[in-house]
Amino acid sequence: MDVIIRENYEEMSRCAAEIIAELVRSKPNCVLGLATGSTPIGTYKELIRMHKEGLDFSGIKTFNLDEYLGIGIDLKKPYDQDQSYARFMHEELFKNINIKKENTHVPDGLAKEPEKHCQWYEGEIKKAGGIDLQLLGIGGDGHWAFNEPGSSLSSRTRVEPLNKQTIDDNYESFYKKAGVKKEEMPHFAITMGIGTILESRHAVMLANGKKKAEVIARALEGALTCQITASAIQLHPGKTTVVLDKEAASELKNIEHYKHVERLKEEYKL
Ligand code: GLP
Repeated sequence: MDVIIRENYEEMSRCAAEIIAELVRSKPNCVLGLATGSTPIGTYKELIRMHKEGLDFSGIKTFNLDEYLGIGIDLKKPYDQDQSYARFMHEELFKNINIKKENTHVPDGLAKEPEKHCQWYEGEIKKAGGIDLQLLGIGGDGHWAFNEPGSSLSSRTRVEPLNKQTIDDNYESFYKKAGVKKEEMPHFAITMGIGTILESRHAVMLANGKKKAEVIARALEGALTCQITASAIQLHPGKTTVVLDKEAASELKNIEHYKHVERLKEEYKL
């Protein structure tokens, strides 16, 4: 696992975007797994900037981690009134780059038979040849996507109830400004499973800010546990990169080691 620590959010975002851009350049038909939340917004902004300078997304496919159950994209509504992750992706990335709409996938929160839809989603990922690079954030309760504490570390795409902390966090970050009452927020989501995420060939996890410091330390350096589903990063068999800003890294014990490895890799061009 490579842990890269950058000075601030902007540098963390640039670093993550450069990792993604390198893959898009070397494999123009790559499959990206994408994430929502406030953390990756800067990375998407940077990718949009790179696109304006020529980065070509026309051959790539994307699969998003998750979507709230019971809501779907509604382009007739203003952005701040549409809390679907499909809308988030449209506004924060897709509409600003040359990706083909049919190549983008976000679980359908309005699916009539959600469990069947989850199986279909898994099948589409397989048909695409699997995920080359999965971008990930981390929830305040340590979750990946919407794999709440207690989720099996080999779980697949499924419907998952949201826990109280996630509802509180996401209410504060996104729903409050839309004037939605907390009790009206979706309480379930469709989420890729931890097992699904672990099959990605390269996992790239991002975190920034002091409020993520404790949970990042528990996920990276604490015990592997389904209570902090992001700790499954310790099990990831492929390439694994964690990009943090200084504040999110502030409670890690092995910082000097991570910096040493980064310096060595730079020196030996690994
Ligand atoms: C949501 C998403 C996660 C994301 C998390 C963190 O719960 N389902 O995929 O990692 O929020 O969000 P933020 O980046 O806003 O802290």
